[in-house]
Amino acid sequence: MKTRTLLFLAAALALTASVLAAPAELPRLEQRGAATQLIVDGQPWLIRGGEVANTASSSLPYMDTVWPKMTRLNLNTVLVAVAWAWVEPTEGRFDFSLVDGLLEGARRNNQRVIFLWFGSWKNGISSFVPAWVKADQARFPRVRLTGGQSVEILSPLSEAALKADTRAYVKFMEHLARVDPQRTNLMIQLQNEVGVLGDSRDRGDAANAAFAGPVPPELMQYLAAHKDTLSPALARLRAAAGNKSAGTWTEVFGPGPATDEIFMAWHFAKYMGTMTAAGKAVYPLPVFTNTWIVQPEDQGPGDYPSGGPQPLTLDVWKAGAPAIDLNCPDIYLPDFDVQVASFHRPDNPIFVPESRGDVGGVANAFHAIGAHASLGYSPFGIDNTGRLLALRPEPGAAAPTDLENLPLARGYAALRDLTPLILEHQQKGTIGAAWLKTEQPRQEIALGDHTLAFELRKNRRTGKFTAEVGYALAFALGPDEFLVAGTDIQVTFVPRTPGAPIAGIADAEAGTMTDGRWVPGRKMSGDDILVDYSLGKAAAANQSGSGLMFGPNGPVLQRVKLYRYR
Ligand code: DGJ
Repeated sequence: MKTRTLLFLAAALALTASVLAAPAELPRLEQRGAATQLIVDGQPWLIRGGEVANTASSSLPYMDTVWPKMTRLNLNTVLVAVAWAWVEPTEGRFDFSLVDGLLEGARRNNQRVIFLWFGSWKNGISSFVPAWVKADQARFPRVRLTGGQSVEILSPLSEAALKADTRAYVKFMEHLARVDPQRTNLMIQLQNEVGVLGDSRDRGDAANAAFAGPVPPELMQYLAAHKDTLSPALARLRAAAGNKSAGTWTEVFGPGPATDEIFMAWHFAKYMGTMTAAGKAVYPLPVFTNTWIVQPEDQGPGDYPSGGPQPLTLDVWKAGAPAIDLNCPDIYLPDFDVQVASFHRPDNPIFVPESRGDVGGVANAFHAIGAHASLGYSPFGIDNTGRLLALRPEPGAAAPTDLENLPLARGYAALRDLTPLILEHQQKGTIGAAWLKTEQPRQEIALGDHTLAFELRKNRRTGKFTAEVGYALAFALGPDEFLVAGTDIQVTFVPRTPGAPIAGIADAEAGTMTDGRWVPGRKMSGDDILVDYSLGKAAAANQSGSGLMFGPNGPVLQRVKLYRYR
């Protein structure tokens, strides 16, 4: 046979094999013990993520320069945008070659992706909708502000916009289902930071008419059925308005901008819930949203997008968009711990799709994963590696070249090695995290039979803190045995169960996790564990003065077995 014929036959065989190969299991969310986890290829998956800049994914040549960096940074999942405008530039003509190219790029680099559908709204504004939508204001009504001016925000009360965006989104999901049997794409983020900017609500005719009418019975029924678990802010509003079971928006929620926000939340939720359900009907992948949270300088809704899923409106979103699996925040505020806690509820498991990527970001990742069983973590703008040194690098600052040694790469390497342990202990509820900074240098966590008292790394002689950010993940391997992965932090142990009151270190060692197994390294004793020489002071607080210490340039893993004495 001629070489050409042989090559042709080989290619045909390869094609047949790939067509006949059974598709991989669908990614899904599953409650496993104490945690809701993302299941990929039948196994729990921890997202070591990063989101590229908004328009990075519109250029495949640019993405070719990005993928290898993601691997060097130890990511396993890259969040990339697919904009409505990029795939339906002319009405009814769809071109998904960009999507195919992104999937190929990810596969070549052994990465998974999470596509962000930038359709009707991105940061409140409708900037990623096709030009034919932008240009037809009569067909696609915009939000109107008090005073009547329109802004570049599609009204969520527009049936035409919902129909057009849903059609494009469903085409995209159909295409994905067809071209991604290996499930390179794991989940979908629908839109980005939705809500009205510039006013507390849409003041267009349709919105005004709906606002003057009754709160839909569907929402009233949900509120009644969930009255004991409503967010405290919503419950307070309801109570102040007399806990009515029916009425107009103002009657049910009281007068004021918070009611406008709830009204907008209902309409955004209905729109996005409709899209999600239509997408899931053709390809049932998990779907989440990403919220612009209230900033300290904001005076009211409209300064931040009014109607997004916020702690105040989460119940409205659950009622209006039950098909959406998670409502997630993007968090750049310094009180990351408070913000993430305000979104994490039994009916709203957590993923952090956007946050910082410097050392503070690694601390955030450890906290979200260890304290909130987060599906993972994803710093924004990761293709700009300067952002992995500082949240807002100086313009023109040289980008780091030693990617493998950036805090994020080291933190993700530790998370990678610890993944089986993390997922197992998230399920058992035997994992904790410490998240420390200068303003918050101490934290206690109850785990196993002990309280783990964490402090920022300290000078043993002067007692002064010698680090600005410290973080750790801690696993209770048994009642008196712990594995801790940390950077710039120290921890002592205080028994919290009946018995002898002081915990001493029976045995401690540094080590690594390889293929889910502990590989011991150096023994830890003497200078390695002597946290405090003031033994009298320590004993008065039922402490031994010994503990585990973690320096800079971590995370380092240490394992400790405790004993008790009196
Ligand atoms: C939050 C948005 O969700 C992102 O898409 C991006 O615009 C960042 N802000 C920029 O900091």
